[in-house]
Amino acid sequence: MGDFANPAAYELWMGRWSRLLAPFLVAFADLPRGARLLDVGSGTGVMSAALLKDVPGSTVVGIEPAEAYVSYSRKKISDDRLCFVTGDGLNIPFNDQSFDATLSLLILQEISDAPLALREMRRVTRPGGSVVGSQWDFAKGMPMLSLFWDTVLEVETSKAAHQAAADCMVVAYPDEIALRSLWQKTGLVEVETERHEVDMTFASFEDYWAPFSSSVTPTSSYIGKLETGQAAEIESRLRKKIVGEAADRSFGLKAHAWAVRGKVPSQ
Ligand SMILES: C[S@@+](CC[C@H](N)C(=O)[O-])C[C@H]1O[C@@H](n2cnc3c(N)ncnc32)[C@H](O)[C@@H]1O
Repeated sequence: MGDFANPAAYELWMGRWSRLLAPFLVAFADLPRGARLLDVGSGTGVMSAALLKDVPGSTVVGIEPAEAYVSYSRKKISDDRLCFVTGDGLNIPFNDQSFDATLSLLILQEISDAPLALREMRRVTRPGGSVVGSQWDFAKGMPMLSLFWDTVLEVETSKAAHQAAADCMVVAYPDEIALRSLWQKTGLVEVETERHEVDMTFASFEDYWAPFSSSVTPTSSYIGKLETGQAAEIESRLRKKIVGEAADRSFGLKAHAWAVRGKVPSQ
């Protein structure tokens, strides 16, 4: 699990992009008006906010193990229909069948035991309710990260560098087949998947590059552990690939995510 201690840095690193992805997941989840919803691994509150906005009359609980994120979310989003609690997705602090739907955005690659997290999500969801998740398509649809790691491995060929790249980019449930199978093995039915696309627009190369040294996750702190010369070489090669020889400019990278949903069988 990454070191999720700095919510403001996380917002620049990934929160600004999960904010674009969340509405697609909420629409795909197809949630009933007035639903009681749980956002597992709520981070800085991105999806909880999207659920409140897009599901009329819903009540939302976000659970998140990182205290700093919970306090940040509470300060940022204040609404009577929403609360954030410190909690572990592997041991969800709610009774069986407490929610109409349980959702997670971008946590499956972080959580140490995804099958257990899914069983927990299923346990706290009522029969007929939905369990929904989404994660980036790390293998084929996350150029923001793959450009970085491809360039790291051009410059730094050590075993440690390959391991760091694999730790970030090779995930246990990489595509719709793996996600569908995880949902089905958890006993969920009517399992469906969908691919979502977002446009990540960066104001400049600097806007892209700066979060890589923010130490907010193992990936973003990797550069800080390299020798200065190596870090500069990676930055220079990436700059050339992305904005070329021209002056710094705005640019876009498309990203894709796999979403999956399934229902708890009715009793
Ligand atoms: C990439 S962030 C995603 C945050 C948020 N859902 C979003 O989309 O912006 C991954 C989140 O998973 C959380 N996480 C890691 N292990 C967890 C666990 N065992 N239970 C619940 N959340 C966990 C992290 O603390 C972090 O907030």
